[in-house]
Amino acid sequence: MSLAVCPGSFDPITVGHVDVVRRARVMFDEVVVAVAHNPAKKYLLDVERRADLARDALGGLDGVRVDVVPGLLATYCADVGASAVVKGIRGPADLDAEQSMALMNRHLTGVETVFVLGDPALAHVASSLIKDVARYGGDVTGLVPPAVAAALREAPSIGETR
Ligand code: PNS
Repeated sequence: MSLAVCPGSFDPITVGHVDVVRRARVMFDEVVVAVAHNPAKKYLLDVERRADLARDALGGLDGVRVDVVPGLLATYCADVGASAVVKGIRGPADLDAEQSMALMNRHLTGVETVFVLGDPALAHVASSLIKDVARYGGDVTGLVPPAVAAALREAPSIGETR
């Protein structure tokens, strides 16, 4: 049984994340979507809300579950017996940012990272941009699952975080 971990902040989950999780599931028997919680980082949504929205968005996918990662991703991967971390890449900037994390995770526990190219039609879809669009009242329909669009409308601090 092969298991992959798809980690991220998911603040919030987007259709781009869902695309990458689907692609990971084609390659691995099981996929755990690992929602990171870093107390030093400022999120728009708290970790349980981010995880719930991810569960809602991925609920129909067989072999996919959502969990919260309270500490090091590499340790979590070892604990759950993951064969690999899977990360989506939209372009060269993503690979640039991901390379050092992948090497650090391999250094820590030997876990490998598999990079998967997302749908190029979603190359502009990033949580940070979506929060920016939502902050100024722009339409995020089609960029995020419907429950996320509603959560963004209701988020009290949408004007304060990125
Ligand atoms: O969606 P993001 O914010 O790009 O995801 C970054 C994430 C959550 C994958 C990364 O920050 C992470 O792995 N955090 C868990 C803590 C950890 O293991 N840090 C060392 C990374 S080498």
